[in-house]
Amino acid sequence: MKYCILMGSPRKNGNTAALLKPFTEELAACGHEYDLIHLYDKEIKPCTACRTCQADWSAFACRFSDDAAELAEKLLACDVIVLATPVYSWYCTPPMKALLDRMVYGLNKYYGEKKGPSLWKGKPAALITTCGYPPEKGADLLEEGIRRYCKHSQLRYLGMLAERHMGYQTVFMDEEKERHAREFARKLCGKEESRA
Ligand SMILES: Cc1cc2nc3c(=O)[nH]c(=O)nc-3n(C[C@H](O)[C@H](O)[C@H](O)COP(=O)(O)O)c2cc1C
Repeated sequence: MKYCILMGSPRKNGNTAALLKPFTEELAACGHEYDLIHLYDKEIKPCTACRTCQADWSAFACRFSDDAAELAEKLLACDVIVLATPVYSWYCTPPMKALLDRMVYGLNKYYGEKKGPSLWKGKPAALITTCGYPPEKGADLLEEGIRRYCKHSQLRYLGMLAERHMGYQTVFMDEEKERHAREFARKLCGKEESRA
């Protein structure tokens, strides 16, 4: 299985990255491949609702020539999508939001004169996040938004791993968080294996 991990933190050595380390180690231990893509390194323009993409039901077909086309190809080619983002103002970070907007139009051909297909229908997607509030108050709105995004796009939502950051003067990672990250990876692997 090939996992496509969209990494939405600007901090490459930050909390979300620290949580991804044991997660990806465990994916590899389960025999899976993964592509870890740092969205802050990519150019992802915001969607302008021009709906050019709706004229072509076979491809992403956005009029912008930035990195979103390459990311759409990676998303279509992978077996599992992982959205990894810190919570910023109760949602994901800006490049991930821009990407989600570009994909919700480019890959869901729902917005033309006739309703067309979802090009990524059935693909599994999971969420990994870190936040300052306890997850039930920091990550609840993000999870609900992603859950609805998946339903709308006909993706299969697999669940969320959310861990709390107690402040910049504290050490984020501990044994419990590492265990949770490994368990989450194994849960995803198990779900995928049980489906096969
Ligand atoms: C601009 C900004 C906005 C934030 N907004 C929230 C928020 O709405 N809710 C929350 O629980 N934490 C919020 N946080 C805290 C981060 O989610 C938390 O520190 C996270 O672990 C940072 O992850 P990183 O090290 O991967 O960037 C915010 C942090 C920043 C920098």
